[in-house]
Order: sequence, then structure tokens, then C-alpha cells
Amino acid sequence: MTGGEGPHSYAQNSSFRGEVFEANKKLIEEAIVKNFDPMTYIGPTNVIRIADLGCSTGPNAIKLSAHQIPEFHVFFNDQVSNNFNTFFKQLPPNRNYFASGVPGSFLGRLFPKKTLHFVHSSSTLHWLSRVPKEIADRSCSAFNKGRSHHVNAPKEVEDAYLAQYRADLENFLHARAQELVSNGLMALQIATVPDVILESDIHPSRAYELLGSTLMDMARVVIEKPLTV
Ligand SMILES: C[S@@+](CC[C@H](N)C(=O)[O-])C[C@H]1O[C@@H](n2cnc3c(N)ncnc32)[C@H](O)[C@@H]1O
Repeated sequence: MTGGEGPHSYAQNSSFRGEVFEANKKLIEEAIVKNFDPMTYIGPTNVIRIADLGCSTGPNAIKLSAHQIPEFHVFFNDQVSNNFNTFFKQLPPNRNYFASGVPGSFLGRLFPKKTLHFVHSSSTLHWLSRVPKEIADRSCSAFNKGRSHHVNAPKEVEDAYLAQYRADLENFLHARAQELVSNGLMALQIATVPDVILESDIHPSRAYELLGSTLMDMARVVIEKPLTV
């Protein structure tokens, strides 16, 4: 994600993700009220530990309301390359929680065992950890002919992406299973496509087609006519 606060930064261009978060906020609040009793967790330290995984640099990070009694410690995580400076500058100065940054991939362990009470992650789990190697292998039936997405691609290509997604999600869940306390709560907001709709018919897929073919054209121009400096 582009850091900083300039016109191309994530901070200035994440209102769509913000709407996703706002749309689901009520659901998350209801789930917390129904399933999450802070008093159960209050030990001698009286601290509730919350993690926002994949916080990026923008304004959509998890927000807390003012009237909670225990002390809250919120861990904001993203990849080590994330611009945490921009992120922390945007937190309200008079916040009612303690904030810490946790750099590293959420596909592995980030926290000690049984320490988190609530995990939140929004619009992050669609990020794959790597390009599935079969799609770049010309000798493989899943070869994707240089394209960077699987819209309108053969089933083998889709399956290769699916296998990578499954492996990543499994690693994510395995790590969280160890880090959450018993009866801890997790809210994951993940973009999905209902089975009854063709992936090629949804708006983002059309955007991927356009963006993908533009990138391929640009790459072709650079390969065929290398820039001279
Ligand atoms: C689309 S942004 C969403 C940011 C924010 N949660 C929001 O709703 O606006 C996805 C973020 O997930 C982060 N991310 C992707 N894979 C990650 C990983 N394996 N570990 C930690 N962060 C990751 C990216 O660096 C990026 O900042």
C-alpha cells in the first residue's frame, strides 16, 4: 500500500474499504455484545488485548468506543514494509486504548500463545503470499499466459489460485488458534462472490481484466523497446 498522506496514498484512497468496514460494523458490534464478555477475561492485569491484522496506513482501522472499564491494548499489524509512521500519526491523540505496532506476516505467529481476546482483520485475506508457481510455468496446464488474475481463465488456473489461498488461510487460522485465549473472538471481513454469480460478471473482475491487459501492454513495450537513459 502506498504510504504517506499524498494524493496517491492508501490513506487518501481507501474510502471503499472504509465503506466495507462501516457496512459490517453493526454485525461485529452485535457479535461482540452477544459472544464476548470482557469480564470473563479480566485477570489480575485487567487488560483486554485486541489485534487488527493488516491495518495498512489508512483510517479504517478498528475503532473503540469510550466507555469500557478494563484497559485495552490494541496491536496494529501489517507487513514490515508498511508505513507505520503514517498510520500512528493518524490515531486520535486522546485515544482510550494503548496502541502498539506489530510488523510481520499474519500468516505466521505474531503473538505469544493465548494472549489475544479479539482479532479483527478487514479486506486483507484476499492477499496471497505468493503467485502460484504453476501459473507461470509454460509446461503446466495451469499456465496463465502472463496474466495476473484468473478471471475468464481455465479451471486449472483458478484451482492453482484456490490451492494457494487455502494454504495461506490455513496458516492464518493455525497461528490465530494458538494466539487467541479460549472463547476469544475473531471478526474477519473477506470479499466473496456468491456461487450463483459468475466471477467475470462482477465489477472488480472487469477492472482486473482492464488493468491486467494494460500492465501486460506496458511490460511488452518495455521488453520490445527498452528505455534508453
Ligand atoms: C486492502 S488493505 C486493507 C487495510 C485495512 N484493513 C482497511 O480495511 O482499510 C490490505 C492490507 O493487508 C496487508 N497484508 C496483506 N497480506 C498481509 C500479511 N500476510 N501480513 C500482514 N499484513 C498483510 C497489506 O500490506 C495491506 O496493508
